[in-house]
Amino acid sequence: MTAEFEVIAPGRVNLIGEHIDYNLLPVLPIAIDRAIRIRARAREDARVVLASPVFGAREFELAPEIPPYPAGDWGNYAKAAGQALAARRQVTRGFEGEVTGDIPIAAGLSSSSALVVACGLALLRANQAEFDRLALMDEMADAERYVGTRGGGMDQAICLAGVEDHAVLIEFAPLRLLPIPIPRGWRFVVAGSLVKAEKSAATREAYNQRVEDCRDALRRLPVRATGYPDLLARVPGAELLRMAEEHLADRPRRRFRHVVTEAARVWEARDALVSGDAARFGRLLAESHRSLRDDYQVSHPEVDRLVDLAMESGAWGARVTGAGFGGSIIAAVPADNVNRVIGDLEERFYGPRRIKGLEGGFLLAARASHGARVWP
Ligand code: GLA
Repeated sequence: MTAEFEVIAPGRVNLIGEHIDYNLLPVLPIAIDRAIRIRARAREDARVVLASPVFGAREFELAPEIPPYPAGDWGNYAKAAGQALAARRQVTRGFEGEVTGDIPIAAGLSSSSALVVACGLALLRANQAEFDRLALMDEMADAERYVGTRGGGMDQAICLAGVEDHAVLIEFAPLRLLPIPIPRGWRFVVAGSLVKAEKSAATREAYNQRVEDCRDALRRLPVRATGYPDLLARVPGAELLRMAEEHLADRPRRRFRHVVTEAARVWEARDALVSGDAARFGRLLAESHRSLRDDYQVSHPEVDRLVDLAMESGAWGARVTGAGFGGSIIAAVPADNVNRVIGDLEERFYGPRRIKGLEGGFLLAARASHGARVWP
């Protein structure tokens, strides 16, 4: 196949604001320099023909309702984009594409959303359709629910909105993006826990349960609010936490406490980023981790271990990033200390596990990168 165009869609790492995007509360991720790439050519008919050197071939017909592959099949992410665009934008021409990528899979770095966005952009290009980036972020978030996860809109938004050397503050109601420069001298180390967190498998249930817990908590409070942004705008956080003590059972109370405190941490982290206050930023990451571990219960002992080790070797702060249940950590690290942190994690975390025969670890200093693009 001679390619006519190429799509590149990056993965992401979320700095802070975890498990609150589906409550329409703000998040602060970066797009990373790891991506899904599709080299493609448009077809005359409605077929999408994909080949991946790692995962094999998939082929399907565009339609407003596309029957899915079995749960967990990678082709479902392509179908997700295909169905959404065929239904909403009358996208009728398919494409033929070779899919490659270097985003670690099931690691909390959003390889799946990158694939959805990449396929979406390939289809739009094959149909020479004009589109608005902001609208596409929402559409791709909706599209991905095809796989059965009731996710928020963070991953698709940052994949399309990433800015080099910037974190992007994303608000959802309405969708708004504010790139914030990352201070010189700050680095973000990302480390995989070796515990796979497949979005399409068992963790899907655990994830969806959290979404439901949050809705449930909101329904049980004695304040009427249209949603979390409305609630947080009307009632001070301390008052909300007191109400939760009184009106919620243990599990929804913990979930709620995480949501309320995490949203506050995002605003504080934005300020710390803007003012270059690394110590404060690091403290917020550490608090976020404790909240995700104890209240939201989405960490994993191996992830906690990575966080502890990163802190011991001089990170300002570290926490589980992405959906959790395994996956990766992000650590905010002084630039002149990156090699030490990486060396320590290599020696103290990965070394002993490799001896036990575990594979698939990765450790990288992530660069905040450009959002998805198509060329020529
Ligand atoms: C997954 C979802 C996102 C977000 C994170 C947790 O990556 O796709 O929408 O909810 O988990 O913050």
